[in-house]
Amino acid sequence: MKEYNIGIIPGDGTGGEVVAEAVKALKTLTEVGGPKCTLVYYDLGGERYLKNGELLPDSVLAELRDMDSICLGAIGHPDVKPGILEQGVLLQLRFELDLYINLRPVVLFPGVETPLKDKGPEDIDFVVVRENTEGLYTGSGGFLRKGTPHEVAIQESINTRSGVERCIRYAFDYCRKRNRKKKLTLCGKTNVLTFAFDLWERVFHECSKDYPDIEIDYAHVDATCMWMVKNPEFFDVIVTDNMFGDIITDLGAMIQGGMGVAAGGNINPEGTAMFEPIGGSAPKYTGLNKINPIAAICSVQMMLEHLNENDSAARLLDAVKKVVNNDLKSMDAGRMGYGTEEVGDLVVKYLKDE
Ligand code: IPM
Ligand code: MG
Repeated sequence: MKEYNIGIIPGDGTGGEVVAEAVKALKTLTEVGGPKCTLVYYDLGGERYLKNGELLPDSVLAELRDMDSICLGAIGHPDVKPGILEQGVLLQLRFELDLYINLRPVVLFPGVETPLKDKGPEDIDFVVVRENTEGLYTGSGGFLRKGTPHEVAIQESINTRSGVERCIRYAFDYCRKRNRKKKLTLCGKTNVLTFAFDLWERVFHECSKDYPDIEIDYAHVDATCMWMVKNPEFFDVIVTDNMFGDIITDLGAMIQGGMGVAAGGNINPEGTAMFEPIGGSAPKYTGLNKINPIAAICSVQMMLEHLNENDSAARLLDAVKKVVNNDLKSMDAGRMGYGTEEVGDLVVKYLKDE
């Protein structure tokens, strides 16, 4: 039986509540024959920062580097200026651990309501591979003459040949392994961002020669948003840069039933990975037992898949599908018909039933 060291970062707001339910599912899986996990908790986030100014201490980073995987709840605190925790903790983890893939499935589970008219689970089933360490997120740029009427603000999109290529190759490999429509769509903006997406497009076409079994397709980011609403069934795997990936996956979360079900993985295919529900810390629901833990539980499901614990991953997916189909009234916080903990208990019940 395999054993894993898992770093747990509950983070801010409702992060702790949803992570607790994800951990409950993980522990239940161990009881029913799944892998043994040693959980190591880290109190990164707003409270620690407000107390002693620490964001991501080197000692914590060094420990996280050695983890087999990491589970994150949410980062973002109402008393901390926007940007500080996001950049100092979440983005710093992505950069320092070189988690260059952000894998975000957009899957509508049976029984979950989508705002898209006449679309069902057979139409909404694709995966976004978002580049996670470059683009507009590197912090490259700066001010000139700040605070004057002649102020200049520059924010540069950094796209390296190697960074683009490793992301695109991962997407091709993922598409092949997924083995569905075997279609990879590059989402860009070649008509305006004529440097950055020229590079992306060239690398995309070069790499495609190594994947003759994968159909390739291209869509501008604005058109991608349109198709995601109008014909989501067109997509199988989408590969895109950091900023566009950020934006289209919020749209993706909505068409799959909301932030309550949307999960993602920050992955270094050669190293560690960090899994998270993609919604934020939802301060207004903190401590109320109202937030939906399904996204966090799905993020653990992705973690198990990533660790190649396929039996446990399949078992957990099955349990989640039963809960959303049989029990929950809605995916939205406060409208599920159950509290956060009760939803976790339902997942546990189905895990034990099987
Ligand atoms: C996400 C979030 C982050 C991002 C924020 C919190 C920095 O929106 O994970 O999608 O922009 O990447
Ligand atoms: Mg986002």
